[in-house]
Amino acid sequence: MRFKKRKPAREVRIDRFDAQGRGEGADASGRRWSVRGAPVGSTVLTGGKDGVRLGLVQAAEDAVTPPCAVFGVCGGCQWQEMPLARQRAEKHAALQRLLEPLGGVDHGMLAAEAGYGYRNKIELTFGVGRYLLAHELNTDIKREGRWLGFHAPGRYDRIVDTPDCNLASPAINKVYARIRADVYASGFAFWCPNEHVGFFRNLVLREGTPESGGEAPVLVALYTFPGDDAQAAWLRARAPTWGAACVGWFENAANADAAIGDLREVLVESGQGLSIRAMLGGVHFQLSPTAFFQVNVPGAELLVSAVRRMLGTNAGSTPDAPRVLWDLYCGAGLLGLACAAEFDAVYGIESVAAAIDDARRNAVDNGITNATFAAGNVENLLSDLPSPTAIIVDPPRNGLHADALRVLATMASYQTESRDLVLVYVACKPSSLLRDGVLLKQAGWVCTDWVAVDLFPQTVHVEVVTRWVVGVSGG
Ligand SMILES: C[S@@+](CC[C@H](N)C(=O)[O-])C[C@H]1O[C@@H](n2cnc3c(N)ncnc32)[C@H](O)[C@@H]1O
Repeated sequence: MRFKKRKPAREVRIDRFDAQGRGEGADASGRRWSVRGAPVGSTVLTGGKDGVRLGLVQAAEDAVTPPCAVFGVCGGCQWQEMPLARQRAEKHAALQRLLEPLGGVDHGMLAAEAGYGYRNKIELTFGVGRYLLAHELNTDIKREGRWLGFHAPGRYDRIVDTPDCNLASPAINKVYARIRADVYASGFAFWCPNEHVGFFRNLVLREGTPESGGEAPVLVALYTFPGDDAQAAWLRARAPTWGAACVGWFENAANADAAIGDLREVLVESGQGLSIRAMLGGVHFQLSPTAFFQVNVPGAELLVSAVRRMLGTNAGSTPDAPRVLWDLYCGAGLLGLACAAEFDAVYGIESVAAAIDDARRNAVDNGITNATFAAGNVENLLSDLPSPTAIIVDPPRNGLHADALRVLATMASYQTESRDLVLVYVACKPSSLLRDGVLLKQAGWVCTDWVAVDLFPQTVHVEVVTRWVVGVSGG
């Protein structure tokens, strides 16, 4: 048998973020490395597999102590060791380097104040195999047991036992603490993903907007294996004590480990069924357990304002032409509905049919009558839409589908002289934006402006809003 020779570990002094949000820096020979979770200003050990942080040689001068006991292992956060201002400055600098080929005026980084407690949704998993932290190895803490928390990255069968999450809102943590104490006390089995036995499987908590200064309402969706009478009686008795606005009990008999299932019973009613209300961009949303919604509302307010600003007042500036907005990849309609007052007609497209149902209901609830939503893939439905004066695209992480990109690129060449067309591209993965943006630019679109929004403090993720034009204002 041949063994692969292990590459020696190297000391790397980290001097910036790379395009994926990893720490990047040089070793003694000048070779550059990208290392996951390596803070700018620190010196780390890496080697073997490129990108793995093997150890910390010297902390950065401005290093801070991570507040989370499970930081680095739960997989949620990467930058708790860096002060928030430094995270944001480094994210912005990395974007400046990455997006340079697109051009456009850089409007910096928008960010809400909170660096913690901003998430309005968390999803946890029940399991029987604990992910042992370094200091828990060779102690009395056993791997086998009943654990509730986040999956260890890449480990479907190991749970990072998580009593609370510093990214989640205080209201979510409060309800979570009660549920956690109860399920441990219940004696019912947690799910074993190898043997496919157990009762408790997944737990989703989602926060809405408080009504006039009250506590934020929390929706709970609890996913279990189909339950017996004793389990049903226990849930009916305990759920009302958790302090949640509504609690849904879903049953999932399938082997695959995911927060999915059929609604068995609404254990606690909010008055609006199994949903809570949230407010964003001046629009009321009714959120069901599965509806897509921005997880950082104060940050998303800044995102919506940026989109509005970038659509501008010149969208459809020809006085007698109808102002038509396309909201592509619209989810539950957030961006289109928030901008609907500026347009004669809004057309939203989204592949998830349930999200389109939500978008239609949200339009009705908000008295918005000029928005039409269609379920399907953007790349298939795009050509059927009436000609736009403004377009929003907010695609998933892998960016625009090639066919959708082709249609949008072609629009640059048949644009009439009589009116401008504005495209606002919202990107959650900047490298996908770069790839699509280079093609848009080649086709004749001009990037005039961009701004970053720090929707996800403590993590590698960042959102970018870019404005594109063709026609007279594109020069
Ligand atoms: C980043 S989210 C945008 C959601 C929305 N704009 C918002 O801010 O709430 C991307 C959305 O694109 C949808 N999606 C993914 N692929 C799609 C496709 N090919 N056609 C239409 N929608 C798609 C996803 O379901 C998801 O809701």
